[in-house]
Amino acid sequence: MADTIRIDEQNILTPSEIIKGAEKAGTPCYLYDEAVICNKCRELLSMPNAFGINVHYAMKANSSGALLQLIHAQGLGIDASSLNEVRRAHLAGIPYNRIVLTTQEVPVLSDREELEDMILKGLSYNACSIRQLQLIADFAGKNAIPLSIRVHPGVGSGESITRNTGDKYSCFGIHLSDLPDALAFARQKKVQIDMVHVHIGSGGDPKKWQENIDREMKFVEDYFPDATKVNFGGGLKQGRMPDEVSANIKELGMYAKKRIEEFYQRTHRKLILEIEPGTYVIASAGFLITRVIDKKQTGKDGFQFIITDGGMEVNARPLLYGSRHPFYLISKNGELLSSEYDLSRFNQANDLHVIAGRCCESGDSQCLDEHGHIVPRLMADPEIGDYAVIGSCGAYCASMSPFNYNSHTQAPEILLRTSGEMELIRKKQTLKQIVENEILPGESI
Ligand SMILES: Cc1ncc(COP(=O)(O)O)c(C=O)c1O
Repeated sequence: MADTIRIDEQNILTPSEIIKGAEKAGTPCYLYDEAVICNKCRELLSMPNAFGINVHYAMKANSSGALLQLIHAQGLGIDASSLNEVRRAHLAGIPYNRIVLTTQEVPVLSDREELEDMILKGLSYNACSIRQLQLIADFAGKNAIPLSIRVHPGVGSGESITRNTGDKYSCFGIHLSDLPDALAFARQKKVQIDMVHVHIGSGGDPKKWQENIDREMKFVEDYFPDATKVNFGGGLKQGRMPDEVSANIKELGMYAKKRIEEFYQRTHRKLILEIEPGTYVIASAGFLITRVIDKKQTGKDGFQFIITDGGMEVNARPLLYGSRHPFYLISKNGELLSSEYDLSRFNQANDLHVIAGRCCESGDSQCLDEHGHIVPRLMADPEIGDYAVIGSCGAYCASMSPFNYNSHTQAPEILLRTSGEMELIRKKQTLKQIVENEILPGESI
């Protein structure tokens, strides 16, 4: 069997790199592969387009400063979802004029002053509700600052119900039926709306992503005479498992290009294409490295559990969505015992196992379906101390995990540089850091 860990068509990792990472940071830890991130950035920046393309990285997927710097250095801007994300990107050295803010927040008082200051320094603001538009309009009109509007199209697509951001169950953006009022208000305040934005969901069907191109181009033509940019959001699907198909960036780009060119022929307006992927940039570049600490079974009709030192608190996606990730088991001395991409020598009768974490929660498993039921998977039977590596953990793992549950400390992160060097980019959190903001009765502040 293959003795390497497959990342994608071009990239692999070796078991010895995994062990080197584990020795550097301890387990559980995340390891990110710089080469993969750079390839993804290049691929996205060369997405076919008619009159130019801007790619913003949705930093909610993974907000570690070193990764933001790396991705920005490749030529991507930043898509931020909160004022704190803007602050954090700026702390990592990203200038405001490379950041777009698309948020559910409605900043008031000192936050509003800071927001306006950021906008004066170049931050782009994407109004996501009528209230947001009302609060920013006077400032934008007075300073001749163009705004963007996020449109709620009424149709969406996500990998699960909770990641569909375009249908009536989610409340992101100004609903189509409110657009005429919102735009009349913007006109009255002399605010130019220079970008139209729709994000239909995360990890949804690429066909729906393509359908949204047509829908959104029609909004642009019907409602936005001043728009110079059309933003189709993030949500480009990255297959994580061997049976999952990724979005075809080239094909989607060709489709968007054609529509934008047709629009130009009708209107003589040249639109810049914008996208804001998170998952596609970083999901496949990340690995969660854990160690096997125990094994248990739950009887004749039950399951064979492999207990690791990192579960839901470092990758909550299986628990939240029933997401599947590829598994790799590696022996202490560096032998690849099983790989998700080569399971031919394993069988349903003997080799089904469940990877579970160490949290006091029966949902702490990496083998769950969308209803929270355990679904055992084919893999090798490791020994205590071997490594269980969870692949495609670059996006929405470190940034979206309940890491202090059971008072576990936030896991460290390592970046495997193209030079082969392993760079620690986040230290392991300490117990002191977990409790440092607590105030015990009688303690002075
Ligand atoms: C507005 C917006 N843009 C971009 C993204 C990134 O999505 P993905 O990570 O699926 O590319 C999200 C996440 O749902 C989002 O809400």
